[in-house]
Amino acid sequence: MIKFEIKNSEDYNKNYSAAIQNPEEFWATIAKKNFTWKRPWSKVLDWDFSIPKVSWFEGAQLNITENCIDRHLETKGDKTAILFEPNNPNEPSEAITYNELHKRVNQFANVLNSKGIQKGDRVCIYLPMIPELAISVLACARIGAIHSVVFAGFSATALSTRINDCDCKMVITSDGGYRGAKTIDLKSIVDTALLDCDGIESVLVAKRIHSDIPMVSGRDFWLQPLLDTASEKCEATVMDAEDPLFILYTSGSTGQPKGMVHTTAGYMVYTAYTFKNIFQYEPNDVYWCTADIGWITGHSYIVYGPLLNGATTLMFEGVPSYPDYGRFWSIVEKHKVTQFYTAPTAIRALAKEGLEVVTPYDLSSLKILGTVGEPINEEAWHWYNDHIGKNKCPIVDTWWQTETGGIMISPIPNSFEGKPAFATLPFMGIQPALMDENGVELEGNSVEGRLCIKFPWPSMARTIWGNHQRYKETYFSAYDQKYFTGDGALRDENGHYRITGRVDDVIIVSGHNLGTAPIEDAINEHPNVAESAIVGYPHDIKGSALYGFVTLKNSDISNDSLKAEINQLISKQIGPIAKLDKIQFTSGLPKTRSGKIMRRILRKIASKDTSNLGDISTLLNPEVVETIMKNSL
Ligand code: PRX
Repeated sequence: MIKFEIKNSEDYNKNYSAAIQNPEEFWATIAKKNFTWKRPWSKVLDWDFSIPKVSWFEGAQLNITENCIDRHLETKGDKTAILFEPNNPNEPSEAITYNELHKRVNQFANVLNSKGIQKGDRVCIYLPMIPELAISVLACARIGAIHSVVFAGFSATALSTRINDCDCKMVITSDGGYRGAKTIDLKSIVDTALLDCDGIESVLVAKRIHSDIPMVSGRDFWLQPLLDTASEKCEATVMDAEDPLFILYTSGSTGQPKGMVHTTAGYMVYTAYTFKNIFQYEPNDVYWCTADIGWITGHSYIVYGPLLNGATTLMFEGVPSYPDYGRFWSIVEKHKVTQFYTAPTAIRALAKEGLEVVTPYDLSSLKILGTVGEPINEEAWHWYNDHIGKNKCPIVDTWWQTETGGIMISPIPNSFEGKPAFATLPFMGIQPALMDENGVELEGNSVEGRLCIKFPWPSMARTIWGNHQRYKETYFSAYDQKYFTGDGALRDENGHYRITGRVDDVIIVSGHNLGTAPIEDAINEHPNVAESAIVGYPHDIKGSALYGFVTLKNSDISNDSLKAEINQLISKQIGPIAKLDKIQFTSGLPKTRSGKIMRRILRKIASKDTSNLGDISTLLNPEVVETIMKNSL
């Protein structure tokens, strides 16, 4: 009865019930039948959310790269594993077969070994979307090194913070990267970051843009000559089920980014199982997820999930607008893409360009469309459905998080239908709960509350690197014995879930999670800034955009160049993705009598929704609200 392949509603219902009624038997069956283990587990699940502690498949031993690569070699050695589509459409694409991937991962793993990287060491990967990114991730996993991929759009400061937080020993980067018409000088960002990182012993540099860059003798090494002389064989290191596989940083509403720690076996089982069923992957399909591997979507659904299933996964180096807004669709046509997975912000940006950039392309290969990262508005959903899916491709609106490791709530094509703006139903074993303001679980349908998960699932993050207490406080303290997601959601009359958005101070801009506190910290470093508050407001393309209310020490210089300086500071501390869309200088910020900034009011002003500001008479400085409203942008 327990099936790896969910093909219809009966499969879904039976398997979902089985996973709820007897989770251990369910996951043990899935794990045993579909993966290669070096040693079986002694206990399927051990958990207590009050500590919190979660472990899956304890006692088992494995190596995830043997599951991603080696076990496919006999039957699929010549199949394309990674299909690389370069930024420049005139540069040839590259098909890396499973045999070749095996060779390149092993060589890379041997290079890591030769530079002293051992099991448990942290390796920071700061690369553009080139094959070396996926290969270096797998090479780390091959030898049990913990990869920490940092999105190559982050600044030197953001990079050094992440390198230091988990004491990385090595950085893997490139001389630069292409993004549309621009080239990005990655190595100089690394060089700046490393001025603040004492623990880095070596830097491996891939050549991509062939620029003339300085290399620090004894620290920096060109990658290719090392690979050329490395052996093509590297024994996979035996890993315990709960050994960390990777760390991936995500913004919190306060403080430093959180290094979410994902472990080996549970992550493997869950990402493989979700990938197979949510995308209904069939052997000859060409699957494309447009995310960057620097985010969890890329980890789970460009690298691990697809390769675990022996799939062909497309990696695209460029951007949707280069050389023109038809690029995504030209790639779909060129490679006969069958599953296409992207972010609502990309759909909105492309829809804006009109159908002239869509209709020239043959999209008939498409079978399934996906979205991830933020709520998709109904208009964008319909555009995607009508013009890309031609009303014949189910849309999977997949809700999940860096912390969850894999997709949690999503339609499963052929089992039940999607519905605009609804993530619909939980995946096998996922037990959502909606909580009211008093911390009581809302029973039944047609309710709205805060979204929690009541029971562990295999791919959940196990801790925050170096700060288990913060893990406990952030996710397990708001509600007893429940994982709190930070999102609000409603359950409709049919029990389908719609995610309504963050309920904390995290703002999702173009699908990127941004905590307000780190941005405020960056702004407050400006010598003329006294105080600041960042809120989100609705934006046609980005979903949400950033609005900064800033008070100055000397208000005489509240001009555009100061706004530019503020955005430069943000770019330097975090990265260009966190730059503010609007900056309003103000003489004060609305505060409660205890001195807390009333963001609720600022959010309403930024959203131009000031008809009902609520009772402001209890504020310390109610008069400031009127002034802010009058001058709002
Ligand atoms: O608010 C939810 C939103 O993105 C958050 C997680 O962001 P991150 O950790 O960066 O991972 C993004 C990729 C998995 C969630 O807490 N989110 C993600 N997917 C959806 C979504 N909101 C609505 N609908 C979705 N499908």
